[in-house]
This record gives sequence, structure tokens and C-alpha cells, in this order.
Amino acid sequence: MKDVLKELERRREIARMGGGKARIDAQHQKGKLTARERIDVFLDEGSFEEFDMYVEHRSTDFSMEKTKIAGDGVVTGWGTVNGRPVYVFAKDFTVFGGSLSEAHAEKVVKVQEMALRNRAPIIGLYDAGGARIQEGVAALGGYAEIFQRNVLASGVIPQISLIMGPCAGGDVYSPAMTDFIFMVRDTSYMFVTGPDVVKTVTNETVTAESLGGASVHTTKSSIADGAYDNDVEALLQMRRLVDLLPASNTSEIPEIECYQSVTDHDLSLDRLIPDNA
Ligand code: HXC
Repeated sequence: MKDVLKELERRREIARMGGGKARIDAQHQKGKLTARERIDVFLDEGSFEEFDMYVEHRSTDFSMEKTKIAGDGVVTGWGTVNGRPVYVFAKDFTVFGGSLSEAHAEKVVKVQEMALRNRAPIIGLYDAGGARIQEGVAALGGYAEIFQRNVLASGVIPQISLIMGPCAGGDVYSPAMTDFIFMVRDTSYMFVTGPDVVKTVTNETVTAESLGGASVHTTKSSIADGAYDNDVEALLQMRRLVDLLPASNTSEIPEIECYQSVTDHDLSLDRLIPDNA
């Protein structure tokens, strides 16, 4: 029994390292947290219950059977925010750029279904390059399943997306169907595909920021509802947002004490709508 537990702990340690130390360091150098660090900041301390930690992809094309990483690029589970249950999935950019395989999609679908069944909010932390190119149609089918759950959950439970890295393809289309989308300035992007692919296909040179940065999506396209300066600020503000939301369309609305007098004038309202549309 001791040996089994030892082996389990060994495998857990490997899974926790995702794509390895070098990629984790690269993530930190870009000013980004890892998927697990983000979950730690977002949820109440010690409340995270992880699912499917050892799931691996099943692909054998392009020698993919030689590179299998436990968890397969997404950390999923549930926990609490100020005592209220939420479901969460965090894309791990250190594993194949957080891209989505068939097995990765099954993990996301599982938490989507649990959130819907238990009528609790679901929060996606995105840092991912979309469909895993090596899996082709199997990955696209995985997105179809996720999009379908986005539709079924719409209007029933809150769906919140936090874009925290370069996100492409399905890792933008699915968030776009959710209720709230927030970004992190200078490190997160939402585009159909990245600048290198745009250059290869159309010969057009574009920067990541002009193609899909927070400035574009919060001032021009209106795809994102807001942006924050760094991962920690964004995650802490998401906790505040969860506090304000009902858990589902049949739950009570949370009551929050307000210390402002009803006769106060809030001058910021005068500037809410710009003079020039
Ligand atoms: C497999 C991927 C990947 C993907 C990134 N990687 N995207 N692997 N499938 N989709 C891998 C890279 O090969 C690299 O691996 C690591 O992740 C980091 O990527 P980099 O390119 O080095 O990082 P960066 O320069 O920051 O650029 C990130 C990026 C770019 C902007 C996301 O990688 C990119 O443009 N990727 C392709 C995006 C794309 O076209 N996705 C498919 C969308 S179609 P190594 O081993 O070198 O570290 C789609 C369809 C949905 O999603 C529709 C459903 C119906």
C-alpha cells in the first residue's frame, strides 16, 4: 500500500509540473502565472478539488504518442469563492500551448456538465492556442461538444471567461459565447489565429496587440467587458464578480451591504457615455 501511495505522489508531482520547468519559467518571464497558480489565487485557500489529473491524449499521428503529459493541457475541478461553490478550468500554456485535444475537451465538458447539473457558476481561465493541430478533426469535434454546453448553460448558470494569454480559434469562440469576458493588458490576446499564421497565409504583418489585444477588444470590438493590469488583479476582481452574481437562474440574488447614501451624487456617471459615439 505504501508503494502505491508513493507512486501516486510521484505521478502527482509530475502532473503538477505540466510542460516542465523551462516552460513554467518562460511563462513567469512573460509576467503570467501558471494554470495552477491562477486557480490558487482565484479560489478560497485549500478548497480546490481537482478532476482527471492523469488524463493524457490518445493521438498517434505526427509521433504524438511520444509526448504525453498528464493533465493534457487543462486543469479542471471545483472549489469555492468566499464559501460559494464554483466550477473552474484553467488552460495550461506549458503543455502544447494549452491547445485542445479530444481528451482535453472531455475534461472541459465534464466540468461544464457538473456546473450545469449542480447549478453553480463556471469560470474558464484561458491561455491557449485553440484546436490541437496534430489532432485535426478530433479536436474540432471536441469544441463542438464544448460549444453545445455553452449554449445549454446560457441563461441558466453564469459563465465567465478570463483571457490570460494568447488565445486563438476555439479558445476564443467558446469564451465569446459566455456571459462575461475579461482580459489582462499586454499579455492576453483574442484572435482567430496568431500573427505568424496570418503572415504565412496572407503575407500581412500584424502585431498581436492590433490583431486582438485588450485595447482592441475593450475599445473597438467590444468583445471583452474589461481588462486588468496583471493576472493577480484580474483573478481577485473575478472573485468580486462571483460575489455579485446569483449561482443560477433559480437562486436568490446575493445581498451586499451598501454604505453609500441614496442622495449621494456619483459624478462618474456624467462621464459614463462618451460625447462622441
Ligand atoms: C498545437 C500548439 C498550438 C496548437 C500553440 N502550440 N498553438 N500546438 N496546436 N493550436 C504550441 C507551439 O507549437 C509551441 O510548442 C507552444 O504551443 C507555444 O506556442 P508559441 O507559438 O511558441 O507561442 P506564442 O509565440 O506565444 O504564440 C502563441 C499562439 C501561436 C499565438 C497561440 O502559437 C499560434 O498562432 N498558434 C496557432 C493558433 C491556431 O491557428 N490554432 C488553431 C485554431 S483553429 P513548443 O513545443 O514549441 O513549445 C480552431 C478551430 C475551432 O481552434 C473551431 C471548432 C469548430
